[in-house]
Amino acid sequence: MNQPKKRLLTGLQSSGTLHIGNYFGALKPFVEMYEQYDSYLMVADYHALTSLRDPVEMQANIISVVKDYLAVGVDPSKCILFRQSDNQDHMELAWVFNCMVTVPFLEQAHAYKDKVAKGLEPNAGLFTYPMLQAADIALYNVDIVPVGEDQRQHIEYTREAVGKFNRAYGEHVLKEPAEQILDTVGIVPGTDGEKMSKSKGNTIPLFGTTEEIEKAVMGIVTDSDGDQPENVYAIHRLLKSVAELDPIYEVNKGRYGDLKKILVSDLEDFIAPMRARRDAITDEQVKEVLVDGVKRAKVTSNKTINQVRTAIGINL
Ligand code: ADP
Ligand code: TRP
Repeated sequence: MNQPKKRLLTGLQSSGTLHIGNYFGALKPFVEMYEQYDSYLMVADYHALTSLRDPVEMQANIISVVKDYLAVGVDPSKCILFRQSDNQDHMELAWVFNCMVTVPFLEQAHAYKDKVAKGLEPNAGLFTYPMLQAADIALYNVDIVPVGEDQRQHIEYTREAVGKFNRAYGEHVLKEPAEQILDTVGIVPGTDGEKMSKSKGNTIPLFGTTEEIEKAVMGIVTDSDGDQPENVYAIHRLLKSVAELDPIYEVNKGRYGDLKKILVSDLEDFIAPMRARRDAITDEQVKEVLVDGVKRAKVTSNKTINQVRTAIGINL
């Protein structure tokens, strides 16, 4: 007998233009695993509202993050790709969870504390962010939630909220998920050798034009001594094996400009097909995918929210 597939859910906050660090650290590992599961992929647009007030940018970001995932190889017929704000069950369960946990508990959340420490005036949505995330997960009886290390605490918060709910209303109404920290290549270095990050201006854009790739690679910082430009090599290693690279770096010893040109060409070979795929996806196609996705998502979430309503005593 075939075991039914385990269920997986993850959420995507769109944060503008992706770089190759995002690809190797988040998108690629996801694409490699999602078909082994009954997978749900959710655009967390109501989470984005905790920090984004521009409606034009909001809309563009929603479309953009879906295109990114489709372009890197997510097939919407092999998972449920949907948007949080299209399904009101998320808001409803988030409220229920808000009523389960205490204010001091939410005050301990790292993501919240970090933002307050940076001097940001926190809105109440930012404060209760983890309970909306808990609802995203608990609605779908999820087994695992693949996320980056920074999200580990949010999954612990989900388990806590689900645990409190179940202790109050019956042990098996909601399922506690496990987190699965994405197995990445480690930290992808940027053009200055530090962690590649959009806030540091040291990125190579994932869907960049040839000119943008060239400009970023030519800007890679190299030290003046030594035969091998380490920062060039480190990025090259993402695309080719040591065995492939060693002869190239041997023949071009000391010729940093030539090695950069080879890297540009290898990056172009890697990026061009994804860029072409992304350019071919229309906004209309994205909207169709989301409409279909939320229909399928609701089949599960409607059942869960109905059980929750019965459990708490509001189903008359
Ligand atoms: P940024 O640092 O550019 O703001 P985000 O924080 O939005 O990137 O990260 C989105 C995802 O991409 C996360 O899962 C994160 O772990 C991954 N990621 C971002 N930068 C890197 C990097 N340099 N190396 C590996 N993974 C990364
Ligand atoms: N908070 C997550 C992030 O910033 C996004 C997210 C929202 C999420 N809901 C989720 C992740 C549910 C996993 C499961 O990346």
